[in-house]
Amino acid sequence: MARRRQLYEGKAKILFEGPEPGTLVQYFKDDATAFNAQKKGTITGKGVLNNRISEYLMQRLGEIGIPTHFIRRLNMREQLVREVEIIPLEIVVRNVAAGSLASRLGIQEGTRLPRSIIEYYYKNDALQDPMVSEEHITAFGWASTHDLDDIVQLTLRVNDFLTGLLLGVGITLVDFKLEFGRLYENDEMRIVLADEISPDNCRLWDAKTGEKMDKDRFRRDLGKVEEGYQEVARRLGILPEAGVRDMKGPEVMQ
Ligand code: TMP
Repeated sequence: MARRRQLYEGKAKILFEGPEPGTLVQYFKDDATAFNAQKKGTITGKGVLNNRISEYLMQRLGEIGIPTHFIRRLNMREQLVREVEIIPLEIVVRNVAAGSLASRLGIQEGTRLPRSIIEYYYKNDALQDPMVSEEHITAFGWASTHDLDDIVQLTLRVNDFLTGLLLGVGITLVDFKLEFGRLYENDEMRIVLADEISPDNCRLWDAKTGEKMDKDRFRRDLGKVEEGYQEVARRLGILPEAGVRDMKGPEVMQ
């Protein structure tokens, strides 16, 4: 196959030029980082599982009318997506206290929040993704008030839908992070959901036992990290056919 131009390498994914203008190939790595990349490791098979899980969730969201960058999965580790201008924000939604909210505000992890809470972080590794307010976002021009209205509306719909979908398979959606991008088509701009939705950027707990099935198993050295990701895929009914063996998938081409 022809070599493709690599456009960007992030902590968990690589973006290549796509086969047609306006498209990109998103390659999912097994690399895992935490605490702003101070902790690094590999979760065998994570890229394959996240590719599949994100495909599945983006497709379900597309079906209920949430615009996303996702076009189709290409192979075990790659998906074709629309090229968007990424808005430099991490939109975090929390339903249950955990992680930085629990520690910052001294709320016991596992406490259900009075309502879903949205937080904004400025996507900037050098600054360690600082939390920001709507004021910072609009004043510095990262997004307009109108963009933010769209982002919040879409985020709340994603939260409602994913909460129900996951509860249906016995998983509590504790919190998660979304990223959005601007898609330009015929002189019009639309905000669409981008990046990925996977156990890398969601907290997913077994609804009965509270057992963690997400990247916190890696962050907190809880063991059985791969198994957590596999269990999420299994419950969604999308464990790759190769099963738990042969999760390496095709090698990245550069
Ligand atoms: P936090 O509790 O560490 O602030 O994380 C909240 C949610 O956002 C959690 O589901 C993990 C996700 N997240 C990311 O996807 N990327 C990040 O860089 C961070 C800090 C959190």
